[in-house]
Amino acid sequence: MSNKVAVYRKEHFNAAHRLYNSQWSDEQNAAVFGKCSLPNYHGHNYEVEVRVTGEIDEATGFVMDMKKLSDLLQEKVLVKFDHKNLNLDTEEFRSLNPTAENIVIVIYNLLRPHIETSLDLFIRLYETPRNFVEYPVFIK
Ligand code: NI
Repeated sequence: MSNKVAVYRKEHFNAAHRLYNSQWSDEQNAAVFGKCSLPNYHGHNYEVEVRVTGEIDEATGFVMDMKKLSDLLQEKVLVKFDHKNLNLDTEEFRSLNPTAENIVIVIYNLLRPHIETSLDLFIRLYETPRNFVEYPVFIK
């Protein structure tokens, strides 16, 4: 049996957004996105769960140092998104619709370069306690 273990870090951020396709009329946006397309934005309490899997390092006994994982989330993701308007305040969503699906991929891409290539990364993002998304879909 392998010594692969999954380690998790959970964090929280608040952010505002508006779901909107600029190619569409206001009526079409309202029909597809409903209240999420209201022009004056609305907020969510996002919960982000980061899962890192890999072999336990013999020297440290860690898969990954949790403090390092926590710091990475803070520095690469939360500083950018917490208490921000995703559409107006972030480069990432200036022209990308800030759906939970797009946000989870952006978070993955912000973290992936800073985690050792021997480790697998997997993100779950809760937009509400009942609505959540996962990326990537394939789980090792
Ligand atoms: Ni929303």
